[in-house]
Amino acid sequence: TRKMESLTANLKKMDLVPPQNIEGSFPEFNTVDLCRNYITEKLSELSGVDKSLIYPALEWCQVLEKGDLLLPLPRLRLKGNLDEMAIEFAEKFPLGGYIDRVVPQGKFLQFYFNTKFLLNYVTKDVLTRTSEFGSSPLGNNKTIIVEFSSPNIAKPFHAGHLRSTIIGGFLSNLHEKLGWNVVRMNYLGDWGKQFGVLAVGFRKYGSEAELEANPIQHLFDVYVKINNDMTAEKEEAEAKGETLDPENCIDGEARAFFKGMENGDEEALKLWKKFRDLSIERYIGTYARLNIKYDVYSGESQVSNDVMKEVSNTLKEKNMITEDRGALLIDFKNLGQKKLGKVLVQKSDGTSLYITRDLGAAIERKEKYNFDKMIYVIASQQDLHTKQFFTALDMMGNKWAKDLVHVNFGMVLGMSTRKGTVVFLDDILEAVKAKMLEIMQTNAEKFAQVEDPEKVADLVGISAVMIQDMQAKRINNYEFGWDRMLSSEGDTGPYLQYAHSRLRSIQRNANVPDEELLEANLSLDNVCGSLDKLKEQNLSDEEFEKKSKLLESQLEKTQALVRIMASYPDTLRYASKNYEPSTIVTYLFKLTHQFSSTYKVLRVIGEEREIMIARLALFSAVRQILHNGMTLLGITPVERM
Ligand code: ARG
Repeated sequence: TRKMESLTANLKKMDLVPPQNIEGSFPEFNTVDLCRNYITEKLSELSGVDKSLIYPALEWCQVLEKGDLLLPLPRLRLKGNLDEMAIEFAEKFPLGGYIDRVVPQGKFLQFYFNTKFLLNYVTKDVLTRTSEFGSSPLGNNKTIIVEFSSPNIAKPFHAGHLRSTIIGGFLSNLHEKLGWNVVRMNYLGDWGKQFGVLAVGFRKYGSEAELEANPIQHLFDVYVKINNDMTAEKEEAEAKGETLDPENCIDGEARAFFKGMENGDEEALKLWKKFRDLSIERYIGTYARLNIKYDVYSGESQVSNDVMKEVSNTLKEKNMITEDRGALLIDFKNLGQKKLGKVLVQKSDGTSLYITRDLGAAIERKEKYNFDKMIYVIASQQDLHTKQFFTALDMMGNKWAKDLVHVNFGMVLGMSTRKGTVVFLDDILEAVKAKMLEIMQTNAEKFAQVEDPEKVADLVGISAVMIQDMQAKRINNYEFGWDRMLSSEGDTGPYLQYAHSRLRSIQRNANVPDEELLEANLSLDNVCGSLDKLKEQNLSDEEFEKKSKLLESQLEKTQALVRIMASYPDTLRYASKNYEPSTIVTYLFKLTHQFSSTYKVLRVIGEEREIMIARLALFSAVRQILHNGMTLLGITPVERM
């Protein structure tokens, strides 16, 4: 409400009457919503259609040419000739403060926001709210769990985990900005027979010192070695026509060890916990490089035996179980879900499986966090698993199963380092950093000015990986292209970083205190000039011609820029509906391209002070939005590069 009062006050200063507030809109946080409310009010008066039909029908436009908001008249349930009505409404619509153009396009109405209003209002809004610009209390403090990354201890951190990390980190930030209470959760693959194998391997090949120094790599090495031994042992026995003694072979020892873990054997659990704790410690550092901090390191091991029993009982009670040679499975065909096939929920030796643990984990999380929504960021290879899991959870009688969302994504092709095909997160980040440093060094003069080149190479390199990942719709596969993603030309992470550091340098060079920017005179005449001012100047025809051409282009570019700026908060909301990082990435490229084209015609240094300050205020607001968008994605913007 305090926000609402200050909105009203700000609008009054600009001689604007605040439109009626539509429920579910956030005009004080989102200028597009403010204009939506205005259009809704006026169009309702014009057409007699109820506001509740108009507001939700006002659509987002992908391209500026089509306007800022689009209204398909068929959604208003009007009777009569819609094409004619579109023309009539466009003619009669009250233009002025908020909207300065309405264009009928068949059965559609295109609304264009008033540049004068946006330039002043949005720029000041950004400069006042700084890093909070873009956020709105949409989530109303509801709780959301975002489960993401979820690698398996002692196994490689593969591309699927990388994508889950990047996309999940973004979705967590996004929901936080939109007023949700976010729980970031990592569900580790930290249980199962492989820990028996690992323990046997560690006895043979393990080194305490190496485990401390580099747990992730060391555990993986041990795991690979012991697996090789295990295969060799089997092959040898086969060649001799013998069978392995189950008590006295690697596989048997591993089974026994894991059984010990499951039965609570303290020695076994102590070793397992050491592997787990040291791995997590290392993960924490690596995730920090990506600006990710988990609230919970959960994992398959953390699902309690009690809840597993509960799951198994419910499945039986609800007649969802079929028995097959001592093993238990859900046959979805019998449950009217033919496409979902069958899935094993308990092996004949009584041990539980992946899906059973997921069912138990979800139930425990509901009890513990009482979440309103839970997102699983998992590769589309696990689409079937996730569908089976969600469906089973629902059939078990958990009404809240509808609040679970699977955010899936495609594969990364060709991701490997020179060392081979196995890639750990740290290795990827180190390799990118090294390459970025090489590229930076090719410009010796610039390189000399960078204070901490290692740090900058790291941050810019990481942004390259992240942007490449989030650029296209997440369901698409993509090719991991070192050179392409690191180039500062084209739509890449380094390009965004470059734009940010350039905006910083404009601010540094002009060197105006922030308070002064807030007082800037942001009238269109002041930022761009006007035809009247030109006429007063008594220019030669030729000069006049040249200057009025420039003016035209200044007006056009400034208009495009502020319209893009205004749509940032609405872009966040849109991204939260489709869980698409590409929505934000596309927006940021649109913003930076428009900035660079506008900056070409609106110089800052060399203008008289009032104009300089006005333009600088505008570009400072652009910088702030770019900063907010990059941090939202998980990227740290650099000051110089
Ligand atoms: N650890 C699993 C893997 O690497 C991913 C876990 C995904 N999350 C889940 N709740 N199943 O394949």
